Amino acid sequence: MKAPDGLDGVPVLEARGLTKLFKVRSERGAGYRRGRVLYAVDGVNLALRPGRSVALVGESGSGKSTVARLLAHLYPITAGEVRLNGRPTRPRFARARRAYARNVQLIFQDPFASLNPTHRIRYQLTRVLRLHGYARGRDQTAQVLEDLLARVQLTPANQYLEKFPHELSGGQLQRVAIARALAARPLVLLADEPVSMLDVSIRLGVLNLLAALKVQERLAILYITHDIASARYFAEETLVMFLGQLVEGGPSEELTQRPAHPYTQLLISSAPDPSKRGVRTEGRPPRAGGRPSPEGCRFAGRCPHTMPVCRDTTPVVSDLGGGHWVRCWLHEPASAETVGASATRPDQQEVARP
Ligand SMILES: Nc1ncnc2c1ncn2[C@@H]1O[C@H](COP(=O)(O)OP(=O)(O)OP(=O)(O)O)[C@@H](O)[C@H]1O
Ligand SMILES: [Mg+2]
Repeated sequence: MKAPDGLDGVPVLEARGLTKLFKVRSERGAGYRRGRVLYAVDGVNLALRPGRSVALVGESGSGKSTVARLLAHLYPITAGEVRLNGRPTRPRFARARRAYARNVQLIFQDPFASLNPTHRIRYQLTRVLRLHGYARGRDQTAQVLEDLLARVQLTPANQYLEKFPHELSGGQLQRVAIARALAARPLVLLADEPVSMLDVSIRLGVLNLLAALKVQERLAILYITHDIASARYFAEETLVMFLGQLVEGGPSEELTQRPAHPYTQLLISSAPDPSKRGVRTEGRPPRAGGRPSPEGCRFAGRCPHTMPVCRDTTPVVSDLGGGHWVRCWLHEPASAETVGASATRPDQQEVARP
């Protein structure tokens, strides 16, 4: 099966069976309770391609940031693997980590927190150039800084380079954070809610900038968001995450027009829509905790369509065609072969449980 436009091509960064368990404290705060673990990310597969973006959507606590941190190797991986240009990665030492970070850069939600308040922008950008061996002579470095700021539409550069972070607006700071990521000349940007802390009026400008960089610089982007409407606007492909698991994925347009999983339908119905009055807030956010149960659908407790099978047996992935797939018993299960041909392959393989 040919993947729909935009979802094919060789992935630059790939997660296979990505899993992260956290030990969780007992409620009384008496240290870690034995055997009590939180499956923050459970068997996630995704693929990022040059010049394309994938949106990872889900409510608070669903595990989105943990996926980004695992992809950036900021946390040790419990099971599964991350492949860069087809090769498994597990950078252990500082040098390997630096080389990896050159290719895979993170952009955080809060630009104020991600920049050092005690240094001018010039210093912060130059430091990244030095770290990766890109700072040459003084004139050449000045030119690189000017180009970097031009790429994030902060011109004239001198107006920003001598400023401290507190002298810039949130939108300008997020552009500086993007410039700092670009200074490493990455292949991949992991953008963890990059606009959610910005004023609504400037969000679109920053998203448009990321979209332009994606095309012009052939960046592969993971766009993490609560907002499924912005996922449709920004990303070719959308993945929906619930309690650590991907439950639906596919081309963004198709997925948002014809959401198959009741959870995706809930996200869409509760997304702000200018044509509706107010915001519907049906359902509760996912609760942190261990696996609700080793078997059964994790959404069964909130789903309006729950059937007996949903409580007993973990749903398999169904291929809905055109790269759209869903993990839900309401849909016919697909054979492993057809699912294997979809764009971002949902987690079919069992990963070793620690
Ligand atoms: N370092 C950690 N130690 C223990 N538990 C953690 C840790 N980091 C995250 N968690 C837990 O893992 C789950 C997923 O967290 P994560 O931050 O990835 O969610 P998220 O989808 O990014 O949420 P949000 O939308 O609020 O940013 C949560 O239940 C969280 O409490
Ligand atoms: Mg998060």
